[in-house]
Amino acid sequence: MERINNTTVLILPLVLLLSLSLQLSHAAKIGQTCLLDRNCDTGLHCETCIANGNIRPRCTRVQPLNPISKGLPFNRYSWLTTHNSFALLGQKSLTGNLILAPTNQQDSVTAQLQNGIRGLMLDMYDFENDIWLCHSFGGNCYNFTAFQPAINVLKEINVFLEANPSEVITIFIEDYVKSPNGLTKVFNASGLSKYWFPVSLMPKNGGDWPLLGDMISRNHRLLVFTSKQAKEASEGIAYEWRYVVENQYGNDGMKAGSCPNRVESPPMNTMSRSLVLMNYFPTTPDLATSCKDNSAPLVSMLNTCHNSSGNRWPNFIAVNFYKRSDGGGAPEATDIANGHLVCGCNSITDCKVNASFGTCQDPPVAGDVPGTDQKMISRASMIMLRKWLPLEVIVLLNQSELAFFSSAIDIHQMT
Ligand SMILES: *[C@@H]1O[C@H](CO)[C@@H](O)[C@H](O)[C@H]1NC(C)=O
Ligand SMILES: *[C@@H]1O[C@H](CO)[C@@H](O)[C@H](O)[C@H]1NC(C)=O
Ligand SMILES: *[C@@H]1O[C@H](CO)[C@@H](O)[C@H](O)[C@H]1NC(C)=O
Ligand SMILES: *[C@@H]1O[C@H](CO)[C@@H](O)[C@H](O)[C@H]1NC(C)=O
Ligand SMILES: *[C@@H]1O[C@H](CO)[C@@H](O)[C@H](O)[C@H]1NC(C)=O
Repeated sequence: MERINNTTVLILPLVLLLSLSLQLSHAAKIGQTCLLDRNCDTGLHCETCIANGNIRPRCTRVQPLNPISKGLPFNRYSWLTTHNSFALLGQKSLTGNLILAPTNQQDSVTAQLQNGIRGLMLDMYDFENDIWLCHSFGGNCYNFTAFQPAINVLKEINVFLEANPSEVITIFIEDYVKSPNGLTKVFNASGLSKYWFPVSLMPKNGGDWPLLGDMISRNHRLLVFTSKQAKEASEGIAYEWRYVVENQYGNDGMKAGSCPNRVESPPMNTMSRSLVLMNYFPTTPDLATSCKDNSAPLVSMLNTCHNSSGNRWPNFIAVNFYKRSDGGGAPEATDIANGHLVCGCNSITDCKVNASFGTCQDPPVAGDVPGTDQKMISRASMIMLRKWLPLEVIVLLNQSELAFFSSAIDIHQMT
């Protein structure tokens, strides 16, 4: 085949070494090539998105921006939410059995909270004389679908709220608990009751919620919603769809251009509910395709649901595998919703301190726009490059270096 000239053989490793050392001395930005998570700036991690053709590992976002202003009603913020926050990839059941239920997230609830997740969806069941986080078959929990006692995760949340006195967390319970006061007991035992936002203060007719800052100073920093209507009267746990509209979950909620309500929820444009929850994840969680779902299609559904919800941006954006995307992902979708809610701009990054609603920063410079640098070299060039260089070196190349080396290879192929 091609004859590689001796000078190139000598120079290429030198250039590569130089570029490697240059790259590793700076934490890489969003979209730039990486090898390990620690090559990326804070708030980013390193991954590919093969499902949409991005085979080069790049730095992608795992953290939304936390809005700095606390001066608006709670319903004027958007919070990234994990669907089945407790169903972790590779986790063993604390019953000692293998788990046969699907998993939806990659890291612990503590790690999720540290990345800025503020909404948690938890499925709770009576099991083993306790309340467990579990996946359902006909409303029952089994050894092979039971993840762990709910108290463990509630205690993680308690530790986080204690260590972070300005943070507010919302829990959505898919509630199968029938034991008397079962939920109240487990929340009491976890230490979380002291943060409880009282149902009596929740707006019943579509009014504004209290200011975020007031919720923080009163220590009303935990909102809990149940799917069981009767528990609002019996245990003081808010019945979710009295306060929240929520779109269809699973495959039926992923049809482009449509954002219908789930059956338990009033229609999305019901203005007597002040909070809007948007689900966007398939019926069967899929780690591989989640990076694609959590990218452009998620932002597109955000716009669709805004339109269907009486021009309201979602307060909660719920996804599977929240860390997976091809760039900005679910954190970027949350920033977009927050920008619109907080300051009337296209992203929270465009909000100006103390500016009036709708007064936005200049658009960010082109190089900083999330989702750039997506273009790949051809597959043929990549295969050629693999013959010359170990994969560990290739993944560290940025787009211009890749283009440079692949054109060098193309030239050699022609000679
Ligand atoms: C690619 O890396 C080189 C250093 O090896 C650097 O000079 C160049 O600016 C980088 N290009 C991009 C688009 O990041
Ligand atoms: C479930 O697991 C527990 C603990 O390992 C065990 O004692 C129990 O017998 C199991 N139940 C069933 C129905 O297999
Ligand atoms: C939960 O704690 C509160 C306050 O300490 C107490 O009044 C209540 O009886 C407890 N409820 C249960 C079911 O343990
Ligand atoms: C918003 O919804 C209306 C009807 O409810 C529809 O006519 C319009 O095309 C939608 N706009 C977008 C951007 O989806
Ligand atoms: C914003 O407004 C507050 C209160 O009026 C003031 O204390 C603060 O200095 C202002 N910040 C900026 C950057 O103008």
